[in-house]
Amino acid sequence: MTMTVQDIRSEFLEFFKKHGHEHVRSSSLVPDNDPTLMFANSGMVQFKNVFTGAETRPYTRATTAQKCVRAGGKHNDLDNVGYTARHHTFFEMMGNFSFGDYFKEDAIAFAWELVTKNLAMPKDKLLVTVHSSDEEAAAIWRKVAGLPDSKILRIPTNDNFWMMGDTGPCGPCSEIFYDQGDKLAGGPPGSPDQDGDRFLEFWNLVFMQFEQEPDGQGGYIRKPLPKPSIDTGMGLERATALIQGKYSNYDIDLLRSIIEHVADLTGVSPDGDQAAAHRVIADHLRACSFLMADGVMPSNEGRGYVLRRIMRRAMRYAHMLGAKDPVIYKLVPTLVAKMGEAYPELKRAEGLVTETLKIEESRFKRTLETGLRLLEDETQKLSGGKKLAGDVAFKLYDTYGFPLDLTQDALRAKSIEVDVDGFNAAMEKQRDQARKSWAGSVDSKMDKIWFDILDQVGPSEFLGYETESAEGQIRCLVKDGKVVDAVNTGDDVRLVTNQTPFYGESGGQVGDIGVIRTADGAEMRVTDTQKMLGKLFVHVGTVEKGKFKTGDTVEMRVDHANRTAIRSNHSVTHLLHEALRRVLGPHVAQKGSRQDASRTRFDINHPAAITAEQIDAIGASYRWARRRKARTSRSRSSCAAARMRGARAISAFSRS
Ligand code: ALA
Repeated sequence: MTMTVQDIRSEFLEFFKKHGHEHVRSSSLVPDNDPTLMFANSGMVQFKNVFTGAETRPYTRATTAQKCVRAGGKHNDLDNVGYTARHHTFFEMMGNFSFGDYFKEDAIAFAWELVTKNLAMPKDKLLVTVHSSDEEAAAIWRKVAGLPDSKILRIPTNDNFWMMGDTGPCGPCSEIFYDQGDKLAGGPPGSPDQDGDRFLEFWNLVFMQFEQEPDGQGGYIRKPLPKPSIDTGMGLERATALIQGKYSNYDIDLLRSIIEHVADLTGVSPDGDQAAAHRVIADHLRACSFLMADGVMPSNEGRGYVLRRIMRRAMRYAHMLGAKDPVIYKLVPTLVAKMGEAYPELKRAEGLVTETLKIEESRFKRTLETGLRLLEDETQKLSGGKKLAGDVAFKLYDTYGFPLDLTQDALRAKSIEVDVDGFNAAMEKQRDQARKSWAGSVDSKMDKIWFDILDQVGPSEFLGYETESAEGQIRCLVKDGKVVDAVNTGDDVRLVTNQTPFYGESGGQVGDIGVIRTADGAEMRVTDTQKMLGKLFVHVGTVEKGKFKTGDTVEMRVDHANRTAIRSNHSVTHLLHEALRRVLGPHVAQKGSRQDASRTRFDINHPAAITAEQIDAIGASYRWARRRKARTSRSRSSCAAARMRGARAISAFSRS
């Protein structure tokens, strides 16, 4: 019987458990320990600080099945997905890790045994690469696997040097390839036609030896890690395709079942000329569902915007398959049936994911058709070789909610490009107008610099629905109303990072307080967090010791007791509002409110004075509601706190 995705995942984990590895759960797709990464892009991300020695764990060997998203940036381009046999936005990476325990020899021996025995891949189809400077690895392959030199290819390029991003742990690597035979075009790795499909890389063994850091002058330096370590990544979809004898990852059991469900719902064959649309939907369904299960919600900034772009791309393809009503949410049960056991967070978030997809698709459908028609009209006017005007692309973005890459993707089949500079110029013009209209408002002097800062550094990512501490990277420092490069002990500052667990004041709830530190021991006490221009989280406070510079990585910790107190005062307002409506009538609307850690203020409009009896009745109604709430939360707590992880992302704080 051919092994399924589920079988191969288990076989991998069991193998390494048997060899003394701790089975560690996949980390969230949102890395809270790496401010430079948008999403976990490989298995090693959650262990980054263990490799560098900054963190220790009770084990020195680990194995994982890690959820990964690569959607733009260093490792993937969204618009390839669906058009090739193996590009994905979401995929699973199987890995084994050694933190200063075993090194090359065992890593190679483990991989060879698992691949050739447990996964039963034929030895004569396998070949490997090593970095050309790494004769040691080549010798081990010869010894362990008995491979001839013709099947140990020396690669002198960065293809055999793995880096997580511009910074972080890195090292030379050795990759295992499978020769799918001469029915497919392509040459072996390192040859001029290596990009063909014949030779497929499916497992990368990284010999972690360095950490790359900024050198402070716009370049980078590499420092040796405290101990040589191992990081490996086997693409689960690729390995499965090879084992199941499929040429495309999209034909493996798991993805095929989603694709067949798409075909059932739309009545369009999964293997005809609309095959790419089916693949896009299957891939994007996984990315969107897993991102939401990890607390990312569609929005117009940061990670939420990447999610929305992926979602809308899937929705356009569903539209192309002729779906009149929202369909993507209907696929969620198939995904949960296939992956919910390995990733229980997906099962827990099923309701939230389904509901959000349904709402987003219904909303987007309203403008999608009109937008596509406009696009059609505009492209018909274009004479050969002309680009679509930037202001048309901007109108599609601004009025119809088309992310730029959706417009580009829609024009791909006609080989029409978009004037991206024109698009950016139209965006800039709109920003300028917003800035000018702001200039007349009261605090304009101080506020105006935030427009420039927002333009330069972009919106901050809020991580606080998921965590109260995280790493961030300083994007901007403001002292005495001016942007500065560094601040020192005693300075009153405003500090902006790319991502933050600190809640910024809005919706009547005050901002978080807490502490921000660097690895060198500098410390800033945060006395308030403000949300500026709706997108920029500004930490206000004083440097108590040391120096902070733009670009520094910082550890950010919210004051837990204070946040809990604010949060419970915030939920008081909901109960109080309800009690007021019961006693005074449904006209009672909230006119304003403010919560800090010690009290709640709640303003209402009521046409008459409130009598003493009414005050008593409001008190009684409030106390009754609070007791009922306490009872429900107690009975819910047995269902595991994480059960509502997804729902919490929407409702724990009032988002506005
Ligand atoms: N971190 C390595 C990769 O992603 C294993 O290929």
